Amino acid sequence: MSEPKAAGTAPIKVTLEAGRHAWCACGESKTQPFCDGSHRGGTFVPLKFTLEAGKEAFLCTCKQTKNAPYCDGSHKAL
Ligand code: FES
Repeated sequence: MSEPKAAGTAPIKVTLEAGRHAWCACGESKTQPFCDGSHRGGTFVPLKFTLEAGKEAFLCTCKQTKNAPYCDGSHKAL
């Protein structure tokens, strides 16, 4: 697997709590946009990130963003 699977064609708006999060990079997770461990055995690893404070955000599901885990509008070109 050299390309991530597109899990969606639009971002998901989420309310993120302060603390650690893991964004699905492979596209196989059933709990998009977050990692559920489905990457195991493949070439992708989740993007782990930590927030000092909670916030709302649009997280990428198409897996083509250049600003992971956040949507950068790349899905519009799919
Ligand atoms: S959903 Fe991937 S760039 Fe917007």
